[in-house]
Amino acid sequence: MKKIIAGTSSPMLSKSLMEITGIPIADVSIKKFPDGECYVRINEEIEHAIIIENTYPDEKIIELFLLQDAARRMAGKIDVVIPYYGYGRQDKIFEGGEAISAEKMAKLIEQDAERIVLVNPHKKHISRFFSIPVDIIDATPILAEYFKGKVDIVISPDAGAEHMAKKAAEIMGCEYDYLEKTRISGNEVIMKPKRMELNGRNVLIIDDIISTGGTMREAIKQIKAQGANKIHVACIHGLFIGNADEKILQAGADEIVTTDTIESAYSKVSIAPLIAPLI
Ligand code: R5P
Repeated sequence: MKKIIAGTSSPMLSKSLMEITGIPIADVSIKKFPDGECYVRINEEIEHAIIIENTYPDEKIIELFLLQDAARRMAGKIDVVIPYYGYGRQDKIFEGGEAISAEKMAKLIEQDAERIVLVNPHKKHISRFFSIPVDIIDATPILAEYFKGKVDIVISPDAGAEHMAKKAAEIMGCEYDYLEKTRISGNEVIMKPKRMELNGRNVLIIDDIISTGGTMREAIKQIKAQGANKIHVACIHGLFIGNADEKILQAGADEIVTTDTIESAYSKVSIAPLIAPLI
């Protein structure tokens, strides 16, 4: 029988998937040994396992590998749904001597899987690191649906997310624009000043990831300085490292919205309806 195996990164999403698809969640024990090592046991027979687990933070990666191994010992088919593909940002060699983390992760995961589902991986070419079939889901349209009627213009904080702003604006029937960001370090970004017609307008800033919140903070500063009215902030994957959410709210955001690829208080839009047809 087909069953969902809910990784500890995604309990709410797994429940939503069960409710939509009728595929039951398997009885699985996931514990920690006193030394911190992970233990998993699938407590029932499964023929087709659908594992839902992020590859972030690191401990979820080990949990995923163990769940895959346990499933492999009983199930004929394993689908792995990775709502947030951690390690996806190191998708090429930026400086000699580096590892390509996104590729290494793919090689390890595909050892015990027949199929992979990814949600907005940082770059689409990540799917080519797998030698098994990969479905890519784009959650931009459901984020856009959430903001329909609330926003006059969509802005991406960098050129890399311009395609998201464009797609969201098409769905909402409004304008879009993008800012130009330069990353100085993991924690620091600068944004090139850009004149936009924002006076009194309601703005949505959209990106794929919020990590430290530095990118959003700089974007908000610039947008606020140009007289914007309400500033909504949205992303697919809300990592919220440190006090990223406070940083964003203090900079002047009226609302933060993310999907449930990483579950938090800001996960106001579920990707379950997008994953359901694929499982
Ligand atoms: C970078 O290319 C991503 O699209 C995000 O802009 C970035 O990960 C955001 O990071 P932070 O919140 O730390 O500025």
